[in-house]
Amino acid sequence: DKGNHRHFMAKEIYEQPIVVAQTLRGYLQRLEEKVALPIPEFDLSTIKRVTIVACGTSFYAGMVAKYWFEQFARVAVDIDVASEFRYRAPVMEEGGLMIVISQSGETADTLAALRHAKAEGQTIAAVVNVPTSTMAREADLLLPTHAGPEIGVASTKAFTCQLAVLAALAANLAKAKGRLTSEEEREIVVHLAEAPAALNDALSRDEAIEAMAGAVAGARDVLYLGRGTDYPLALEGALKLKEISYIHAEGYAAGEMKHGPIALIDENVPVIVIAPSGPLFEKTVSNMQEVQARGGKVVLISDRKGIAAAGENCLATIEMPTAHPLIAPIVYAVPVQLLAYHVAVAKGTDVDQPRNLAKSVTVE
Ligand code: F6R
Repeated sequence: DKGNHRHFMAKEIYEQPIVVAQTLRGYLQRLEEKVALPIPEFDLSTIKRVTIVACGTSFYAGMVAKYWFEQFARVAVDIDVASEFRYRAPVMEEGGLMIVISQSGETADTLAALRHAKAEGQTIAAVVNVPTSTMAREADLLLPTHAGPEIGVASTKAFTCQLAVLAALAANLAKAKGRLTSEEEREIVVHLAEAPAALNDALSRDEAIEAMAGAVAGARDVLYLGRGTDYPLALEGALKLKEISYIHAEGYAAGEMKHGPIALIDENVPVIVIAPSGPLFEKTVSNMQEVQARGGKVVLISDRKGIAAAGENCLATIEMPTAHPLIAPIVYAVPVQLLAYHVAVAKGTDVDQPRNLAKSVTVE
């Protein structure tokens, strides 16, 4: 049932405030202002290294998580796409935690990576949305997302729920390692608890995004740029656009532009820049200006402060609510999802069942 939405994808984008809140409930004790895991007795204090493996959108959630694990817990993180991981000879030291991330819990490559790591003595945590899935059963630590069934082939609500779980896991790991004062823990809980309201706010920008989607729908190529945790979001934005609108899109780390892709820039290639104000804002803006100096047409996704500072020469701007850096990746997922959605609708493609794609990839 699509409710009053035209597509499951739209319905699922709009469910995000509720399902992220639902998911976070399993990981926060709001009254006590503490983070917690669904299995509280699970000991994270001895974890020395983290290996994250996933595919597609779930892999991008893992890329965001790498920043969090390093920043909060100071634990080294290896991350790879499952189809590459299983054919390398990955070095996994004793005392390591392997985190698999999967909406379906059945993706063949991710499952094979899980089994390989288990055989190598790693502890396995699985961030999965289907609680009865194979990965959920085979993991030592099940970290469920509570996104509910995701019908649209393009993953949306599962992604933001994965981010919510991974942020909470990073905080738990930091706490177990004695790296979090109770004041810091309280702040993390407060900021994570703000995510559902911020998602609602982000959804209120829907009409503005729909209105500018036409400017992207005619393009043959689109670039997405971001830095830090916005880099994986750029990758995710490009993936969403490719999948459902069939427009060629690439996500790039903003600083890598000048090492090659800037050669592609002309007035026919829209460049979507994801840049909330914060410590990396100035750096991303200077990469954005390099694009503009070559005639590139920029769509800037930022907050009021960022748009006031850098929005002037842009083709369009999308103003997001001000979000704490911890929840910004969750909040900024919304405009990249909505942009892809409206471009696809404008092009008349089959949004929920894009060509050549299946919801669950159970072959290599
Ligand atoms: C993108 C998408 C795919 C999946 C990937 C992993 O919108 O849906 O890239 O993210 O196939 O699937 P799961 O998360 O089920 O392992």
